Parts: sequence; C-alpha cells; structure tokens
Amino acid sequence: MIMLQIKSGGDRNFSYIIGDESSRLCAVIDPGYHPQKLHGEARNNNLNVKFIICTHNHFDHTAALGELKRITNATTVGYGSQYDISVVDNTNLDLGHTQLTFIHTPGHTPDSICILAGNKLFTGDTLFVGKVGGTAGNQDARQEYESIHNKILALPENTEIYPGHDYGTAPFSTVSAEKRTNPFILQENFEKFLNLKKNWLAYKKEHGIK
Ligand SMILES: [Fe+2]
Repeated sequence: MIMLQIKSGGDRNFSYIIGDESSRLCAVIDPGYHPQKLHGEARNNNLNVKFIICTHNHFDHTAALGELKRITNATTVGYGSQYDISVVDNTNLDLGHTQLTFIHTPGHTPDSICILAGNKLFTGDTLFVGKVGGTAGNQDARQEYESIHNKILALPENTEIYPGHDYGTAPFSTVSAEKRTNPFILQENFEKFLNLKKNWLAYKKEHGIK
C-alpha cells in the first residue's frame, strides 16, 4: 500500500492519499484545500483517484471536494446522503486489492468516520496525536469518549494513527503510544475526560503544550 501524508494548509490540516500498488487506484482523504496539488500528487505517483473520502463535514476537510471530483470524476464517500457512497459503521470498500473499512466515530460531529486501511487508521478530527477532537456539549463529548475507547482503542496496539490536523509533537502515532501518553486517553473515566476538555487551555499552559 502506498500512503502519502500531505500538508494542505488551513489550520495545520492534513490530506492523505492511500494507493493500491497493483491496480494503481487511490483514495484521497479530506480534500480541504488545493485540489490541483492533490491531483498532482496522485498523478506523480502514477495513481488514479477512485474515491474522495471526507472524515466529516467540516469546511477544512471538504472545501476542495467539488473541484477534485470535477477534475478526477472520482466517487465521493462519507457518512451522509450528500456523498455518492454513504457509508455506515463497518462498511468495506475495495480499492483494487486494498480494503478500506469505515468506522463510525461520532462525537466531534455526528458524521465523523475513521478509515482503516491495513494497519493505518485515518482519524479525521476524532483523535489527534496527544489530543482529541473538539466537541460542542457534554453529550457530544460522551459520544467521542465512547467512539475513542470502544472503537479506536479496541484496534491492535500497532495500528498507526494518522490525524486530520498536525497538532501533536509528531505527525502520526500508534494506538499503543496514544494509550500511554495522550492525556485525554489517560483519564480514568468520562467525568475526568470531560473535566480535562473544560480545562484544556490551563493544562496546555501548565505542561508547555502548543
Ligand atoms: Fe472538524
């Protein structure tokens, strides 16, 4: 499998390209900005864009979706009826000989999904390196907590985490490393997780986190 992590601008946003070596088909994840650049990256790697996937419907992950579809004629994929293929929890799609599995991880938004390809998990704004996605209220925070614990952390320890923003000390991580070091995951219950969310600015300042 081919994987490119692309700095796409915005608020330290990442886009990704997952390519299948034998069929030369690829999926672009989170086309926030620069559709020509994303298409160019695929072409430079001799890949044809089959799917354009959005991890959730926030502007910085979707703004280039229409233009990239116009350029590539690819099939759009996400959670919701606005996409050509609307996925649900555990939907599988074939990208040549590479299988993509979609995991519904509501919390940051109701339509948040993660994409598993081999041992790589693309987490959008659900889980960052050393951080978790922002949530609007306590109910959303609880959903996010459950999505992270019941779905993401249930994956094998060596699963690699590729987030939607470059917010951490490194651009990617693993399930095992996040379990050991992510301050939100280290909270022993939901109430403490919620408390850290509410006091995150003070915690960041205290621990010198950017
Ligand atoms: Fe977002």
